Amino acid sequence: MVKVDLSVDIAYARIIVSEAIRDKFNLLFKILIIMTFAIKYKPKSLKEFVNQKECLEKFLAWIKKWKPGSKALLFYGMPGVGKTALVEAFSAEKNFDLIEMNASDFRSASQIEDVLGRSVMQAPLFKKFKIFLIDEVDGIAGREDLGGVGAIIKIIKKSFFPIVLTCNNPYDPKLKSLRQYCDLVQFKKIHVWDIVKRLEYICRQEGIKAEKDLLKQIASRNEGDLRAAINDLETICRGKKEITEKDLEVLGQRERETSIFDALKMIFKTNSALAAKLSISGVDKDPDEIFWWIENNISKEYEKPEEIAKAFDALSKADLFRQRVSSRQNWKLKAYMIDLMTAGIATAKKEMYRKFTKYQYPEKLVILGKTKEIRAEEKRVFDALAKRLHCSTRKLRKEFLPFIKVIVKNKKMAQQLANSLNLSSEEMSIVKKY
Ligand SMILES: Nc1ncnc2c1ncn2[C@@H]1O[C@H](COP(=O)(O)OP(=O)(O)O)[C@@H](O)[C@H]1O
Ligand SMILES: [Mg+2]
Repeated sequence: MVKVDLSVDIAYARIIVSEAIRDKFNLLFKILIIMTFAIKYKPKSLKEFVNQKECLEKFLAWIKKWKPGSKALLFYGMPGVGKTALVEAFSAEKNFDLIEMNASDFRSASQIEDVLGRSVMQAPLFKKFKIFLIDEVDGIAGREDLGGVGAIIKIIKKSFFPIVLTCNNPYDPKLKSLRQYCDLVQFKKIHVWDIVKRLEYICRQEGIKAEKDLLKQIASRNEGDLRAAINDLETICRGKKEITEKDLEVLGQRERETSIFDALKMIFKTNSALAAKLSISGVDKDPDEIFWWIENNISKEYEKPEEIAKAFDALSKADLFRQRVSSRQNWKLKAYMIDLMTAGIATAKKEMYRKFTKYQYPEKLVILGKTKEIRAEEKRVFDALAKRLHCSTRKLRKEFLPFIKVIVKNKKMAQQLANSLNLSSEEMSIVKKY
């Protein structure tokens, strides 16, 4: 039986479409895509591209000098700062054919060769020049078994056209070999005032009235990430023609209401330690409770035994810190617990599982919920008893109760014990049940 890998065909078909008839479909694409502000206001020319002057200059100098055999360009930096947008704006302005793909779409090294191998050596069909953008190469580097980095290097070496790559962290050891074939360009955070300017422009285009101070607040809270700022603006002005500072509350509320399910999805699906760590910041639950949510769902998401083992290993270390926080009353240790139970779990997998997982309520919390009243009653009685015995509750449970349990089996001795410890009948029944 011949096995046909459809994804290769689809990816290759994308290139064919892109090189031949994409322009004709452009209008149709525009109608079909539900445009968010971030897509709608992608810069269509370099004039619209804000900030990042140094990056733009480096890019233009590189492309001017580029000839077959030259290095590729590796854009790096935090998300939402214009790495993808710069290449797109430049190609649109120059009417170059841009062949754009996301590295995480590739499933194997041979697929990279199948999809790009020919295209990097063929002249563009209709436009005068073409340029390649392989976005988010961190995605491919996470899968060492794939040989993806090696395949991209081969493509860079033989390409007749310039190739730009993007990633968040180029110093990831897995990208080491790729770095030798690239010139690096760092994208820094976008300055607050440039974000404000862009938000003002979008408001003007959309006919929305907004105070400058409000836009500045949106810009500041997103710390240099223009995409996130545009998304926030879109959230608060949905259905409105005027926005005020009061509307900012929506954002706070939205953050607080991030559901535990969204956080779990992020932790289990992402390869980024930082994203996993940040995922629980908006969840309206205590990290101690989130801990049990993660524990209960590891084996529902991960399938490979070695990944499950690695995840539980990280979780057991998180558990150590969880206990140290309470035993030493040292709240600083909570940060280690959170890192281990989020980033530790996220990085336990090699590759994201492309499936839907129905995350479940932790069984442990169900049991704890059911026994909450009994445990509270028990605690009250044992605290009182510990005081009478001049010891800690812990010592009582560990050293006294096992003997007391034996003693109370004998009716006469139970009575004597109750008298000497001043136990009420209710307290006695709790001790017996323990
Ligand atoms: N420097 C910029 N100038 C104009 N718009 C930008 C800039 N940076 C980001 N944006 C906006 O944010 C969106 C996401 O930017 P993008 O280039 O995809 O970020 P990334 O750095 O993650 O590749 C763009 O579609 C655009 O709307
Ligand atoms: Mg991008």
